[in-house]
Amino acid sequence: KHKEYYICILIIITKILFLLKGSRDETRYIILSVSVVVCVFIFSRPSVQRLLFGACACGQCVSDIAHDTWFQKRYDPYAQPLLTKKNCILSNALYWWWQLQYKSRVNYNAVAEMLFGIFPNEEDYSDAGPGRCRTCAVVGNSGNLKGSHYGALIDAHDLVIRINKGPTEGFEQDVGSKTSHRIIYPESAVDMDNSTHLVLIPFKTVDLQWLISVFTTKHIDRTYVPVKPSIKANRDKVMILHPGFLKYIQERWMQKHGRYPSTGFITLIFALHICDQVSVFGFGADENGNWHHYFEQNKHHHNAGNHGGSYEYSIALKLHEKKRIHLYKGW
Ligand code: C5P
Repeated sequence: KHKEYYICILIIITKILFLLKGSRDETRYIILSVSVVVCVFIFSRPSVQRLLFGACACGQCVSDIAHDTWFQKRYDPYAQPLLTKKNCILSNALYWWWQLQYKSRVNYNAVAEMLFGIFPNEEDYSDAGPGRCRTCAVVGNSGNLKGSHYGALIDAHDLVIRINKGPTEGFEQDVGSKTSHRIIYPESAVDMDNSTHLVLIPFKTVDLQWLISVFTTKHIDRTYVPVKPSIKANRDKVMILHPGFLKYIQERWMQKHGRYPSTGFITLIFALHICDQVSVFGFGADENGNWHHYFEQNKHHHNAGNHGGSYEYSIALKLHEKKRIHLYKGW
C-alpha cells in the first residue's frame, strides 16, 4: 500500500513536469492549479495522512494494522460501528443474518425511519487521525475488580465505557465513578446520568422499537421477558450499534464460535474502533477461577451460554499479548 501511494505521487509529478516543458504561460498556469488541487486532495485523505504521520498521536495506536497479519485478518478499519440515517438500510444478506439471531415480525425499515427523527444522527468518531490520542477504559463486570483499587486508573481515561448494569456507586475505589458510555440492550437497561451516552446493542428489531418507546410513549414493557418501559437517560446522547457491526464481530473476530458475541466482547471491539488506546478491566475469572459480578455477593459459575465465553477471553488475551490492548486482570 505504501508503495502504491509513492508510485502514484511520482507519476503525477512526472506528468506535471512533462506537460510544463515547452507549454505556453496560460497552459502552465492551468496545469499548475490543477496539480495543486490534486495534491491537496491526495494529502487531505485520512488514509494518506495516517500513512505519512501515523495512525494516531499516542505512542502506540490500536488501529495501526502494519506488520500484524493476525490483526489484519480480523480488524476492518472501515467497519462502521454506529447506525446512522445514511447507513441504516440493510442489505438482504445482513437483514437475514440479523433475523436469524432473533426472528421478528416487526418491519425494520419503518422502525429505522423513525429512529433519526428522535435520536441524533451524527457520524461520531470519524475523526481518527495523526492528531488524535483518545484513551478508553472498557469496564466489564467481573468479580476480579473487587479489591483491585483500579478506580483512579479507570477514571483517568478519556472515555470510560461500562456494560449493562455494572454500578459505580459504592464501588468507586475499584471501578471508578466516570461513565462516558454505557452499552446496554433492553433486558439489561438501567438509569444513567445526563452526560452518559446510552449505546444500544440492537439484537432484534423490537429492541429499536423499545428504544423509541422509552423516549416517547413508554408503552413497551416486554420483549421476550419483562423490560423497563422507561429509564433515565439523555435522548441527545443515544447511539445505536449497527447490525452489520455485530455480524462483522461474529464473523471476523469470533470466527463463528458461539451463536453471537457477548455484550462485553462487542464493547471491546467497539472500543478498538473508536479509541486509539484501549485498557480493559473486569473481564474473566477471579483468582479462584470464579466467574461472578463485582457487585454481587454470591459466587456462582458464570454461564457463557451462547457466547463462546472462553474463546472471547482468549482473543482478549491475544490482543493483550500483541500490545493492542492492555488487559488488567485484577487481584
Ligand atoms: O454479566 P454481564 O453480561 O453484565 O457482564 C458484562 C461483561 O463483563 C460480560 O459480557 C463479560 O465480557 C464480562 N464479564 C466477565 N466475567 C465475569 C462477568 C462479566 O468477563 N465474571
